[in-house]
Amino acid sequence: MGVSAKVLIVDDDPDILDSMAEGLRTLGYDVLPASDGEAAFQVFRAEHPPLVITDLQMPRIDGLGLMKTIKAASPSTAVLIITGHADLDSAIQAVRQGAFDYLVKPFDLETLLGRVNQALERHRLLAENEVLLAELEQRVQARTAALVESERRLHALFNGITDSLVIVDQAFTIVAANEAAAALSGTPAESLIVRNCFRELFGREEVCEGCPILESFATGRATSRSMSRRDSDGCVRYLEVSGYPLADEGERPTEAVEHIRDVTEKVHQAHHLHNSEKLAAVGQFAAGLAHELGNALAIIGGAVQFLLGCPGDRRQASREYLEVIHRNVAAAGGTIRDLLAFAKPREPSLRVLDVTESLDRARLLLRGEFEKHGVEVVRQYAPGLPRIQGDREQLQQVFLNLLLNALQAMEDGGTITITAVFGPPEWVRVELTDTGHGISKEHLDRIFDPFFTTRERGTGLGLSITHRHVEAHGGRLTVESQEGKGTRVTVLLPAMIPEGVQARAR
Ligand SMILES: Nc1ncnc2c1ncn2[C@@H]1O[C@H](COP(=O)(O)OP(=O)(O)OP(=O)(O)O)[C@@H](O)[C@H]1O
Ligand SMILES: [Mg+2]
Repeated sequence: MGVSAKVLIVDDDPDILDSMAEGLRTLGYDVLPASDGEAAFQVFRAEHPPLVITDLQMPRIDGLGLMKTIKAASPSTAVLIITGHADLDSAIQAVRQGAFDYLVKPFDLETLLGRVNQALERHRLLAENEVLLAELEQRVQARTAALVESERRLHALFNGITDSLVIVDQAFTIVAANEAAAALSGTPAESLIVRNCFRELFGREEVCEGCPILESFATGRATSRSMSRRDSDGCVRYLEVSGYPLADEGERPTEAVEHIRDVTEKVHQAHHLHNSEKLAAVGQFAAGLAHELGNALAIIGGAVQFLLGCPGDRRQASREYLEVIHRNVAAAGGTIRDLLAFAKPREPSLRVLDVTESLDRARLLLRGEFEKHGVEVVRQYAPGLPRIQGDREQLQQVFLNLLLNALQAMEDGGTITITAVFGPPEWVRVELTDTGHGISKEHLDRIFDPFFTTRERGTGLGLSITHRHVEAHGGRLTVESQEGKGTRVTVLLPAMIPEGVQARAR
């Protein structure tokens, strides 16, 4: 401690005050004398000495009172109590209440100096401690603020990402989920925690087949897969799912980040583009072909009719063959008409209609065929279905094609279930589910290709035309199938919903 340290000395006995002041001054201290508590506090406020030496017994404010006032203003200031033998108890109490120590009168200068030095050293340490503590507190505050800020940023990033993000543990339990995941599942993000990802995000009762997270846990590497899920309104969503393992160094991962990108629109666009390109090419080809063949067939047909009209025995003998030619020319003409209709489709002429009427008309047209092949048709139409805007003829053709396909997959009988429901907020959803032979995985990708057929007498145009009609109505057509079990075709058509109902449905 530097020798110029300030020391406030308080005593109402002028002799003691002088002798202590004198003694300490000669030792180099900057002594501030005061003869009572009040004066002492004034000096204290002006000078802020690190040490106060005070007598205990003083008029008005005693030493204990002064110490309390000083400690309240500056807790680190050291207070040394001076007392006579009679007041030892009060001195001990003062120490208990925060005084550095006490000295019993009379004492020599050396003893005083020893205590003064100790008290100042203690004060110095305390002051240093205080500075360090304040610094530490400042640093902690700065770190906390930085942490809060980085957490806020991370949170904003996590929730701002438009793809679904969840963190799952090895039991596929969700430990964190962002807003996009909440939107995908239809459950608030905080409610997703502790639930299963396969149930909440994919609507399945067990771990999804080919789950990339499962593989990420097994290999410790990032993995991606194309997957799909069915929404509550029956629409199929196509999802790109990636798993990123979260591992402690060198250890097996205990958690994984699951990133889900909805690529439904892209898939639809790609399909549409793919089909449109093909249809355009096929259309051009078909138009040329139909023109040429149509002319040739017209000439052959005319000639045959002429021959059939001529009397005579020889011609009578070949009549049978001429009739075969006539029948086949007529059939070929029909196919060519179909091809032309396909090559140059007409726009749907829309009117308000009930989709179940088109369904029933198509069903009745095939009633005889259903009976012949032992196919039972079950209808499940929801009451109060919204109407749609559709082309009666085209929709009938759509359902006819689909029912025919189902029938042709069940030559030895089976069941076709037709359901029609409202798929809020915007669709009338028709599903045709058959118990036929189903479609293999390789074929499923190609069934919408023009001329793709697995049937001996099929043209492979049925689904292409159906798909195009549905799209022209602003709808969607999807096919799901399990080989050996059956096929489900879903047709979504935009529902006409009155304003008020629309608001409630959303
Ligand atoms: N419900 C179904 N069950 C099983 N396979 C089906 C079903 N619907 C379509 N398919 C498959 O899709 C192929 C293409 O169907 P699409 O209706 O386009 O042509 P097609 O029925 O073969 O001939 P057509 O032009 O006479 O309809 C069929 O050949 C069949 O393999
Ligand atoms: Mg068909």
